[in-house]
Amino acid sequence: MTDLVAPRFAPSFSLRRLHERHGNKLLVAGAAAGYAWLSNAILAGQGVGAVRWHVDLSPLLEISPVLQAHIAGAVLSFAIGTSLLLGVKGRSVHRVLGYTWIVTMGVTAISSLFLSGLNGDTYSFIHLLSGWTIILLPMGLAAARRRNIAQHRRTMTGLFMGGMLIAGLFTFLPGRLMWSLFFTA
Ligand code: HEM
Repeated sequence: MTDLVAPRFAPSFSLRRLHERHGNKLLVAGAAAGYAWLSNAILAGQGVGAVRWHVDLSPLLEISPVLQAHIAGAVLSFAIGTSLLLGVKGRSVHRVLGYTWIVTMGVTAISSLFLSGLNGDTYSFIHLLSGWTIILLPMGLAAARRRNIAQHRRTMTGLFMGGMLIAGLFTFLPGRLMWSLFFTA
């Protein structure tokens, strides 16, 4: 006798699966869309019609050494973090780049504790990310040393995405220093 088995309808669309497979790409796309929208809104509010692309790094020579260290740490963290996420091959290469990334992210986060401006002389909401980074960096390293690779990957990827997409992109909004290095109205 043949068993009658009710067909199981597994939903073909699962938010969890979408997040697992494409979470980072969706995050980057969302941040890029949010950045484009916010930049347009700011420029429209200022009555700016056209924006020109240029490269003028000379303002970097006039800023404080703390801000110079912050930007250097952030740019290096972006470059190293991107190559780690793209999956550079080799365990020792990953170790060297990984430890270097922890140092550059540490410099970025600690130097930001001496920066202010968005909220006058006091800390702004971006400083929450600095504190978060200072706490989670050693935790991500500890997870790797315990061989808890899933937690290590989650923590470090989250720090990279949060730091670069929230704090990093934010600095490229019209009117801010990073924007003025590459754009002019
Ligand atoms: C590509 C990445 C990044 C770049 C290019 C960048 C650049 C800058 C710049 C230029 C400033 C000075 C303010 C301005 O004129 O805009 C600044 C401030 C700041 N950054 Fe970053 N940063 C980056 C990533 C980060 C990360 C990862 C953190 C935290 C972990 C962070 C935390 C802060 C904080 C707290 C301030 C002070 C905000 C305030 O004025 O209250 N930044 N950043």
